[in-house]
Amino acid sequence: MYDKQVVQQATAIHAETYGKAPTTVSYAPGRIEVLGNHTDYNEGTTFSAAINMGHAFCISPSNKPGVRLTAGDLRVTAEFDPTNGDPLEKKFQWANYVKGVIFFLRDFGVEVDGIDCTFLGSIPMGAGLSSSAALEVATAYAVLKHAGREIDKIDIARIGQKAEHDLAGCSCGLLDQFSSIYGVDHGLIHSDFRSLKTYPVKLPDDIVFLMINPHVKHALAESPYNARRKSCEKAAAQLDGLVDYEVKALRDIRFDDFIALKDRIDPEAARRATHVVWEIHRVEEGVKLLKAGDIEGFGQFLYDSHETSRTAFENSCTELDTVVEAARAAGALGARLSGGGWGGSAVALVHAAEAEAVCAKIIESCKAKGLEPTAEIIVPSAGATVVM
Ligand code: GLA
Repeated sequence: MYDKQVVQQATAIHAETYGKAPTTVSYAPGRIEVLGNHTDYNEGTTFSAAINMGHAFCISPSNKPGVRLTAGDLRVTAEFDPTNGDPLEKKFQWANYVKGVIFFLRDFGVEVDGIDCTFLGSIPMGAGLSSSAALEVATAYAVLKHAGREIDKIDIARIGQKAEHDLAGCSCGLLDQFSSIYGVDHGLIHSDFRSLKTYPVKLPDDIVFLMINPHVKHALAESPYNARRKSCEKAAAQLDGLVDYEVKALRDIRFDDFIALKDRIDPEAARRATHVVWEIHRVEEGVKLLKAGDIEGFGQFLYDSHETSRTAFENSCTELDTVVEAARAAGALGARLSGGGWGGSAVALVHAAEAEAVCAKIIESCKAKGLEPTAEIIVPSAGATVVM
């Protein structure tokens, strides 16, 4: 189910701005990362879910050349040439995700010109809920519909990723775009970033997630994200020289071999890889736990994940640690930082009937520690769609 309200608001703003109703409207959700932190670009596996908040994207044809793009919240319009792939000047930075997607769609023979566009999102910015990936996916769905074209969903995800790499400077994996595209109502998505396949996994009916945002500034291009990716690649290359099989990415090192060999590689790379290798292991074990209905065991993996984030990958921060500890004390089944880290939100796994009470307890104990967090109850939702 998509966020109807944001679609209606975007449509109204589009009509006000350009004096005509949109002819195409799409919607793409944000995501929560549930388990498998920083495993995507290591060709590993993840659990994630699309959320009940997202971006709406509207298009109508224009008789003027170029693309006009209005940010529905700012009521500001940027204008650009769809055949140019360079980032826009700083004050129009928000338009780069859309510009990148429109430009890279050209590699698939999808060429648009003379369009008026509007986007509006219900995802809080900087909360670590992949607002930018949702915008990229919504853009691609709308532009493809407008052009009367279809391309593979994996290519849509890759185009979004390329916009992040080339126009926003973050060497991200494909997790965020995959989650926005392949989300399922009330289920998790188990993704494999080597085969590029996704599998829906049903959640017990009485399970929901809490997203608790301690409001720490979060911008991945400025964070150590790209440096962590390099450390993981270094660890894989060094491990490759120590075993008699190929380690192309951290995905390939066998868990027991890693434990036996990690002290023989660069110590910093080994620490970063420790988190990733454990995460891949936890996702694989997590599949079995969910199949067996062991939600408590699965929840414990979330706490374990946060622990190796904190100690080995070092992508947590005091505020997120405080939230996770508050969630544990409040009786959540599991909690961890969700997404890149160094800010953003923590996700907690809870029984639906206890969600309100657990949420109130978390907020109260965070406030007692000087934080002003906000919290949302997240219902896993379906992926991107063309609305009209
Ligand atoms: C961000 C990136 C993803 C992924 C996560 C960490 O959300 O965009 O590709 O690497 O961080 O798991």
